[in-house]
Amino acid sequence: MNIKKEICRLILLGITVLALPASGTERVQAGVWNDTDGNPINAHGGGILEHDGVYYWYGERKGDHTYRSPGVGWECYRTEAGGVSCYSSRDLKNWKFEGVALKPDTADHTSDIHPTMVIERPKVVYNDKTRKFVMWMHIDNHSYSAARAGVAVSDSPTGPFTYIRSERPNNSESRDMTVFKDDDGKAYHIYSSEGNSTLHISLLSDDYLSQSGSFCRNFPNRFREAPAIFKKDGKYYMVTSGCSGWSPNEAEWAVSTTIMGPWTPMDNPCRGKDADKTFYGQSTFILPVGKGSDRSFIIMFDKWKKDDLVDSRYIWLPIRFNGDTLTIPWTDTVDLTGSATDFAAE
Ligand code: GAL
Repeated sequence: MNIKKEICRLILLGITVLALPASGTERVQAGVWNDTDGNPINAHGGGILEHDGVYYWYGERKGDHTYRSPGVGWECYRTEAGGVSCYSSRDLKNWKFEGVALKPDTADHTSDIHPTMVIERPKVVYNDKTRKFVMWMHIDNHSYSAARAGVAVSDSPTGPFTYIRSERPNNSESRDMTVFKDDDGKAYHIYSSEGNSTLHISLLSDDYLSQSGSFCRNFPNRFREAPAIFKKDGKYYMVTSGCSGWSPNEAEWAVSTTIMGPWTPMDNPCRGKDADKTFYGQSTFILPVGKGSDRSFIIMFDKWKKDDLVDSRYIWLPIRFNGDTLTIPWTDTVDLTGSATDFAAE
């Protein structure tokens, strides 16, 4: 063996190892999150579907120009509705842009998905019986007074999704929303209603394309928005925001033994600096990662920039449990395996 050569090889190996990022499973919260083409990820108010080992991230595709809706009293900042983006990933870190899965209808000025409308908080679930991907989203007009839910369908997770219609579910207003698919294959539409004062949970039809007619009213007069929901050890957990437009407020978690309630509102799960402002974020989705006893949960927040909405950022944090109590401590980097074991003490 040539000792000199071997020493050089070992030094080079050491340098290479040191130059590698600390871990391939971590993401730094701060800064712009780019896709694999180097473009900022444009998928706000989004959610993630895992299908056949691939994660699909759907979200609002915001236009470049932010403006205030004319004639609307409150701080109604808007961009053109650019439809719904789709990104794919196997590791939750590297996201490939798959295109605009639901394209806006630029031709028909009366369409729900014309760029002058509001298309927010899209969520996609897969229907095992029909083998269709079903997207629900908040559809609104320039003043958010339409308060409707739209539905679209596709044969493929990356789209194209075909827009079907919008409705006021169960004849009630529907703004911020999510969709939750339970272990038994039933899916639920969860939406802020009654002037955002009350959160409805509505069982969808077997094909997920309409409401079944069975729904419940939760948290009356508590004005909860931005619902994100998951199930752990037979219990249902929900994180919501308060109701202050694009400005941050205090989150709240709630728990129930059945999805249709009664839900018990708890307190603010956030811990650390700016916990009373949800770290300047607003909940949008809770993603289960891993299987069985290794299963953990990552909560996704939007960090809105109301005067430049397309530059809004993302915050993802693992959820931590102390028994049945849920907490969300701040961490500067997020472990994308959802591991919550190495958090600093609260
Ligand atoms: C927030 C809501 C966002 C968006 C915004 C409009 O309360 O969570 O999704 O609708 O209002 O101001």
